[in-house]
Amino acid sequence: MDNAADLRVLLASHYPLLFVETEEEPRFLATLREATRQLDIPVWVWSASTGLAKEGYEPQYQTVDPRRALGFVADTTAPGAFVFADANPMLDDPVVVRRIKEIAQSPQAGRTLILTATRPTVPDSLAGIAHRWKLRPPGPDELLHLVRRTVRDLADRGFPVTLSTADMRAAADALRGITLAEAERLLQRRILENGAFGPDDVPALRAGKAEILNTDGILELVEAHAGTLDEVGGLDGLKTWLRIRRLAMQSGNPAIEPPRGILLTGVPGCGKSLVAKTLAQTWGLPLVLLDPSRLYGKYVGESESRLEAALATLEAMAPLVLWIDEIEKGFATGDLDGGVARRLLGTFLRWLQEHAGEVFIVATANDVSALPPELLRKGRFDEVFFVDLPGPDARRDILEVHLAKRGVDPATLDLDRIVGDTNGYSGAELETAVVGALYRAAATDQPVTTERLLEEVHGTVPLSRARPEAVTAMRSWASARAVPA
Ligand SMILES: Nc1ncnc2c1ncn2[C@@H]1O[C@H](COP(=O)(O)OP(=O)(O)OP(=O)(O)O)[C@@H](O)[C@H]1O
Ligand SMILES: [Mg+2]
Repeated sequence: MDNAADLRVLLASHYPLLFVETEEEPRFLATLREATRQLDIPVWVWSASTGLAKEGYEPQYQTVDPRRALGFVADTTAPGAFVFADANPMLDDPVVVRRIKEIAQSPQAGRTLILTATRPTVPDSLAGIAHRWKLRPPGPDELLHLVRRTVRDLADRGFPVTLSTADMRAAADALRGITLAEAERLLQRRILENGAFGPDDVPALRAGKAEILNTDGILELVEAHAGTLDEVGGLDGLKTWLRIRRLAMQSGNPAIEPPRGILLTGVPGCGKSLVAKTLAQTWGLPLVLLDPSRLYGKYVGESESRLEAALATLEAMAPLVLWIDEIEKGFATGDLDGGVARRLLGTFLRWLQEHAGEVFIVATANDVSALPPELLRKGRFDEVFFVDLPGPDARRDILEVHLAKRGVDPATLDLDRIVGDTNGYSGAELETAVVGALYRAAATDQPVTTERLLEEVHGTVPLSRARPEAVTAMRSWASARAVPA
């Protein structure tokens, strides 16, 4: 059954209270109008900005206050479908909830209260009388209508469009399963890319849809990385912090809140990803990578429910360490994506705060300027750490780690000199120098020497020298918002 027919049945069978889950409010209202037309029931819409209005009429006096709007509904004897759009916030008011209950409990022929939200939260006291309903993806007729309209628009704007009725039907078919907004975006993208639209473009629509629907690849189990936190040079504050949390986690003391996770930001190549990778191994937990750019690329529209499914999977897999690399890529909220990223962020933040199960999150961020402030608010992550360029002691540690890892005894080198000459070098740059020296040494069948290593060091310009302003900007950002790692 299509959405409108389904709704019509619900209205005709006098359900007094519906909670509607939809990301597409305009489409829901259009569906509702269609459903009510045959029943001859007027649609009323309340919103927090305009109050309650019968469609096509001025809002009722002073009904922005939901209590008053509900009072009006309670007093109305005429039939009507009364939609309260984005109703979640008003349900925080116990009087509102009570009034909804009273209206629902004194059913009147043809009167239905409809509360919409992206994710409706039904208060306990209404659970018995409320009926949940979800707007399903558009049916063939809606999609055909969309294709017709889009094609007509484009033809009006001078694009060459050569589609027979059968082609349009094929295009509509290719778009089944995604939301109307997604379908429209897909169509427009295709047309704008090609400058035209013909029957040959239908397979491309299907491919585009497959991409949107594909749920694979959002989570990835990362193979145990050889190494523990001991392989991370420097970052002593962070390592101590982690050690203490782990002890707390293992103490089993119910009075101690389990740690949720950390956010690592800082200078590139200084060990953010390395910490995430080695932490799981140190704690003896599996490491699961969530790739937010994938989330963003593929899950336009249905994105939240997919993200939720992924999050539920994680809880089922717990205990584990969840690594979210470059979190800003998934949750940076631009204005161009119809609010998808913002909703994803909302879903993620809610989960961050409420999730059950032992999931410790290590999120890393490279571009701090793109980080939504919500992510940094207290109570989201346990701590935000700033990973700076390594100081002398940390550089010594890092050099030792990488030399030893490759079979070179650090004691054979003048580490003091190397440390002294590598001010401003990141861990990754130090590692590169070590590898480069080893490589050259091997090529000439010579041992690695201090000079050889210094040659490598002097042969590269560290990022901190190439782009000092980038490092300065990160530090000044971090000074107010993060603790040194
Ligand atoms: N503190 C460190 N101790 C030991 N090795 C390090 C350290 N920092 C960086 N490295 C070496 O450099 C490599 C790259 O570092 P990593 O990927 O952790 O940097 P990052 O901070 O995540 O950088 P980006 O911002 O570019 O993602 C590591 O795999 C490791 O070999
Ligand atoms: Mg990284």
